[in-house]
Amino acid sequence: MDATMSTRSACILLLALAAASNACALEAVPEGLPPLAAASAPPNPYRGNAAVLEAGGAAYERYCAECHGERASRPVAEGPDLRRLNTFCKQLEDGALKAHCLADVDTYFLYSVREGKLRAGQMHMPAWKNVLPAETIWAIRSFTETRALPPPRTLPDLPRR
Ligand code: HEC
Repeated sequence: MDATMSTRSACILLLALAAASNACALEAVPEGLPPLAAASAPPNPYRGNAAVLEAGGAAYERYCAECHGERASRPVAEGPDLRRLNTFCKQLEDGALKAHCLADVDTYFLYSVREGKLRAGQMHMPAWKNVLPAETIWAIRSFTETRALPPPRTLPDLPRR
C-alpha cells in the first residue's frame, strides 16, 4: 500500500467514524477531465462527452470496484449494479421527460456518493464528499452509465412444478 492509498483509507475511515470530516483534503481532479464551473449541479455536465470515460473508468476501478464490481461488468459485487440506474429513464420516449428523469437520477447519484449509505446505523458505503471532487464523481457516473448491460437474466434451470 503506497502513501496515497493509506492516506485515503485513513480519511475514509475517519469520515466513516464522523470524527474529522474537515481533516482530509480532496483528491486531485484526474488528468483529462475538463474543469467544471458549477461543479456539483446535476444534470451530469459530462453526459455525452466520450473524452471523460477513460478517467471515469480509472476512478471507478480505484474507488468503487471493490464493492460495485470489477469494470462495472458483472453483478457479483456486494453493492448495487450502477449500470442499471438509468433503466427506467431509458424506456421513456419523450426526450424532455427522459432528460428530466436522467437529471433526477444524477441528483440521486451525486447525493448517494457524496453522503454515503447509512442504514440502521450501519455504514454500507462511505461518504465521498471530502475525498472526491465533483469532476471525478461525474466522470464515474458517465463511465457506469455508458457500460453495456448484460442480457436480461432468465431462469431456465429452475425446477418447474
Ligand atoms: C465499501 C463498499 C462500497 C464502496 C467502496 C462504494 N460503494 Fe456505493 N454502495 C455500496 C453499497 C453496499 C450500496 C447499497 C447501500 C444501500 O442501498 O443501503 C451502495 C450504493 C451506491 C449507490 C446507490 C445505488 C442504488 O442502486 O441505489 C450509488 C450511486 C453508489 N453506491 C455509487 C458509488 C460510487 C460512485 C463509488 C465509488 C466512488 C462507490 N459507490 C463506492 C457499497 C460501496
